[in-house]
Amino acid sequence: MGRIISIASGKGGVGKTTVTANLGAALAKLGKKTLLVDADIAMANLGMLFGLHSAPITLHDVLIENIDIHDAMYDGPYGLKIVPSGLTLSSYRKADPEKLKNILRSIEDEFDFILVDVPAGIDSSARAAIGSTKEMLLVTTPNPAALADAMKARLTAEQLGVRPIGAVVNLRRNEKWEAKKRDIENFLELSVLGEIPEDPEVRRSWYLKRPQPVVVRKEDSPAAKAFMEIAAKLAGVRPRRKKASFLEKLLRLFKR
Ligand SMILES: Nc1ncnc2c1ncn2[C@@H]1O[C@H](COP(=O)(O)OP(=O)(O)OP(=O)(O)O)[C@@H](O)[C@H]1O
Ligand SMILES: [Mg+2]
Repeated sequence: MGRIISIASGKGGVGKTTVTANLGAALAKLGKKTLLVDADIAMANLGMLFGLHSAPITLHDVLIENIDIHDAMYDGPYGLKIVPSGLTLSSYRKADPEKLKNILRSIEDEFDFILVDVPAGIDSSARAAIGSTKEMLLVTTPNPAALADAMKARLTAEQLGVRPIGAVVNLRRNEKWEAKKRDIENFLELSVLGEIPEDPEVRRSWYLKRPQPVVVRKEDSPAAKAFMEIAAKLAGVRPRRKKASFLEKLLRLFKR
């Protein structure tokens, strides 16, 4: 049985879609069968990060007309599958996000991981998206407003019987007033699975002719490395050790 994990934050703009896309691609790269679902049915962005701007069938169709979700799955890198949401307001108004839970339960055996990109806030569509999953990964930035909203998302998950499994701290700039990892863990009562630095390569993903998440395009960038480490923790695999540098090899000789 696969894991169904919501990626939520409460606060808008802290990186839920970015984290969903990159962790999804990273898990697929590690050989995990992974599906991404854009449950932000009002402000659909996830598909755009994979160049799926004009997908003919979307999650809206699945949530309106009971179309088979397999017909709304598109291929991403490394065998990743993506279900984008629709972009039109008329289909958004007709889509019923409460249907998502049963739909995901019906396909959970087909995947190792199903990651669900949740809308900001904790209103009905966010609750439906969170409630469609079994576990929640919280995304926050190291600032007090984001942490307060992350706590609301965490409490919402608990109300819905969804288990919070950890937090990802995004947009770390290492400014001295930012909340420290330990303080974030104490506040949220969750372990921080990883911290993603502010990295211009992440933002660039949106502007390319053929958009791809940074873990696909620029695997040596600081953000991509951080995403790979978190994915390895989730997947329970050891990240590949980087090759020892000349100086590290020399040091080993001295330590013999
Ligand atoms: N680590 C990062 N470094 C640099 N830019 C980032 C990073 N993470 C996210 N961003 C940028 O921040 C912006 C918001 O990210 P994203 O859309 O993933 O947030 P979100 O939480 O999904 O937003 P929303 O609440 O609107 O759905 C995007 O332009 C994205 O490229
Ligand atoms: Mg988003």
